[in-house]
Amino acid sequence: MSDIVKIFDTTLRDGEQSPGCSMNTEEKLIMARQLQKLGVDYIEAGFPASSPGDFDAVQKIGNELKGPKVLALCRADDEDIEAGINSLKGTHNWGIHTFIATSDLHLESKLNIDRKTAIKKAVKAITRARKFTDHVEFSAEDATRSDPVFLAEILSAAIKAGANVLNVPDTVGYITPQEFYQLIIRLMNDVKNADKAVFSVHCHNDLGLAVANSLIAVEAGARQVECTVNGIGERAGNASMEEIVMALTVRNQHYKVSTDIDTKQIFKSSRLLTKLTGTVIQANKAVVGANAFAHEAGIHQAGVIKNPLTYEIMKPELVGASINQLVLGKHSGRAALNGRINTLGYDVTDDELKKIFKRFKKLADKKKIVYDEDLEVLVMEERSTGIEKYKLMSVNVTSGTETIPTATVVMEIDGKSMPAKASLGDGPVDAALNTIREIVGIPCVLTSFVIKAATGGTDAQGVVTVSIEWEGIKATGRGSHTDIVIASARAFVNALNRLDLFLKSRSVTADEMEELQGI
Ligand code: KIV
Ligand code: ZN
Repeated sequence: MSDIVKIFDTTLRDGEQSPGCSMNTEEKLIMARQLQKLGVDYIEAGFPASSPGDFDAVQKIGNELKGPKVLALCRADDEDIEAGINSLKGTHNWGIHTFIATSDLHLESKLNIDRKTAIKKAVKAITRARKFTDHVEFSAEDATRSDPVFLAEILSAAIKAGANVLNVPDTVGYITPQEFYQLIIRLMNDVKNADKAVFSVHCHNDLGLAVANSLIAVEAGARQVECTVNGIGERAGNASMEEIVMALTVRNQHYKVSTDIDTKQIFKSSRLLTKLTGTVIQANKAVVGANAFAHEAGIHQAGVIKNPLTYEIMKPELVGASINQLVLGKHSGRAALNGRINTLGYDVTDDELKKIFKRFKKLADKKKIVYDEDLEVLVMEERSTGIEKYKLMSVNVTSGTETIPTATVVMEIDGKSMPAKASLGDGPVDAALNTIREIVGIPCVLTSFVIKAATGGTDAQGVVTVSIEWEGIKATGRGSHTDIVIASARAFVNALNRLDLFLKSRSVTADEMEELQGI
């Protein structure tokens, strides 16, 4: 059996499906490029039959990436398989991932079909996909709540039809590690010609067991693990890529298997995803949380100074976490800025650097020290401009103990200046957001508002993440500034721009758009 575990990344499919994590095509491409640098073996780029936007993203990722194999998710039916094939046909290195539920609960309540029909559908889908690609993965959805005898039967039929990867998902995060170990061993014994396929697992985290279940499956013989960056995914998420990879790396003597992941790219991948989706991770998150390598207690600090091994089982550098927090100030030049940006893992063009340098100088005038986090914000902000419908030109607020908060906002829409507007609010942020809402004419609801300091100190950049919803469409936006009202206004405008992109990628017609806007 191979001593390499393949990493199947589903950040752009299962991860992207989760609330607040949607990405447009451009954002998915940026993330896919980073996953390629990270060294994942497979990228599940999306679910082409689910929307024209997903189809487009899968196709673009397939066309561009040369390293990892790109997969499209398809239900086991003709239309889905066609969409999957059409999205990737002609690209460099691709495959199809098809699935059908196998638990009686799903078969009866969701699909309304019997076991025999499920096998027929799976076989038909795999056979069709195999005519176009030599890589077909089959997943038995809700495998861990399925009858193991039937599970072995459908997986045997899948191999016979040409599937080369058999995935055993714990779809609802229900199984325990011991049970999962037994199940994988049993399937590897009972499935006919099991040696002709790689066993894969796909664990959800509803009981906080996704990583433990994935690792025990590896011990049982699984050689592919499906996971996501930061563990994003449906409900409580998927198994976290960074935790699995680092467990296999740090405890290599125990597991005796490794991955082809460049662990130094882990931190950057995590940060990039956070920035693209606006979904922050908790500070104590294993491997990539802000506190993952911080030693607060005096006794721990003393120990680490004497010998890092006392309290550190892995070095931050191993996952690419920068420990050099102090970086640049107002006297720093363009070359130093570029050098630091490169160290953080971003390649910027000369033109981008010019613009980022301007923003950097402005920020450095306000702050004594510009930290890595500040720089990342500047890069992301620069990269998010240029494709936007709505542009915030200025925002001014009056507020205080004796006045009703009022905001005056000037914006451009599609490059045209809009007349300045002023509105009241319960506070300065509320007033600013109300005014922006009036100018753009989209009565969206603010469903979440989170404010965080990017770095320590009272001169920190406030980083605001907002989620908005309009006519069932959700979008998240991020903005930053040393003034939190401006940061909030920027985040709100960023979310509106993303909403606009989602509408475009869902091919909403001009008429539908007008109807939605109540014009
Ligand atoms: O959780 C699940 O079962 C899935 C399948 C489509 C693999 O995401
Ligand atoms: Zn899943």
